[in-house]
Amino acid sequence: MSDTVNDRRHRLAVIGAGVMGTGITTLALGRGIDVILVDVSEDILAKARTATAGQLRLARMMGKLPREGATGELVTTTRVEDIADATAVVEAVTELAPLKAKVLAEASAAVAPGTLLISNTSAVPIDEQADSVARPEDLVGIHFMNPPYLIHTAELIRGPRSGEAALAEARALLEALGQHGVVVGDGPGFVINRILQRMINEAARIVAEGVADPASVDAAFEGCLGHTTGPLATADLIGLDNVVDSLRVLHERTGDAGYEPCALLLEKVAAGDFGRKTGRGFFAYGGSTS
Ligand code: NAI
Repeated sequence: MSDTVNDRRHRLAVIGAGVMGTGITTLALGRGIDVILVDVSEDILAKARTATAGQLRLARMMGKLPREGATGELVTTTRVEDIADATAVVEAVTELAPLKAKVLAEASAAVAPGTLLISNTSAVPIDEQADSVARPEDLVGIHFMNPPYLIHTAELIRGPRSGEAALAEARALLEALGQHGVVVGDGPGFVINRILQRMINEAARIVAEGVADPASVDAAFEGCLGHTTGPLATADLIGLDNVVDSLRVLHERTGDAGYEPCALLLEKVAAGDFGRKTGRGFFAYGGSTS
């Protein structure tokens, strides 16, 4: 990785310009990698462009991205056909398996055979998605953490049909992004979300039962166990809509009732209280009352 010129080895296509797609874009730009960012509307893309500028400043100020050196070039588009010359594609669309299948099929058709395809899914097994793409061996999972420009470890998921070339390419990309990839096997939720989503669901149940309020649940985890962020503040950071989608995937794939989204989570999502991104979830943010 060079600090003085753009990293021309990689040209990353990111599909989905929400919380994660924007964060992954910031990470790549800050490492000198050019990005083509795709979403369904110009409005979403304009917001993402503004957000990456602020995130870049923050990550550099915190010393989480190089302060010196080139910034990658950002191109935005609503047309997936425009990603044809990408060297790797990351899908970061909403956690709905049929949507991911559609987006991966379109991405796979748009790029050259052998181009690395990455799913940033929280919970959908990689092998379940492999039938959507022209060459299942080109597909791996990379579960970036939120926000990826501040947290520099990700799960690298090796699906049963992921090829060695794709895994090597994924490792090279992670290195260029300054990320450490922990290699894990396939399965609903992989390692992190199989544990974390269940913990969030249980924490929400504890609040609903009146055993403890959100601040006390998180204070216990942070103080007693040394977690930097408790489960409910983590849920607000992830987005409660995404938490419910991920729990549904885990519940459907495992049949384990512990993953069935609890009523309090469903109520908050129905009320539009998604967490940080809407200003209110288990906690209030940015001047929101309550
Ligand atoms: P989000 O809801 O913030 O963003 C999803 C984006 O996908 C939206 O901008 C939406 O317009 C876009 N989209 C939907 N259909 C599309 C299509 N056909 N083509 C292009 N774009 C499309 O969701 P978020 O939180 O960014 O999650 C994205 C993925 O990353 C999910 O699979 C999620 O599980 C995963 N993830 C989320 C993390 C988090 O903390 N939020 C952490 C790690 C992974």
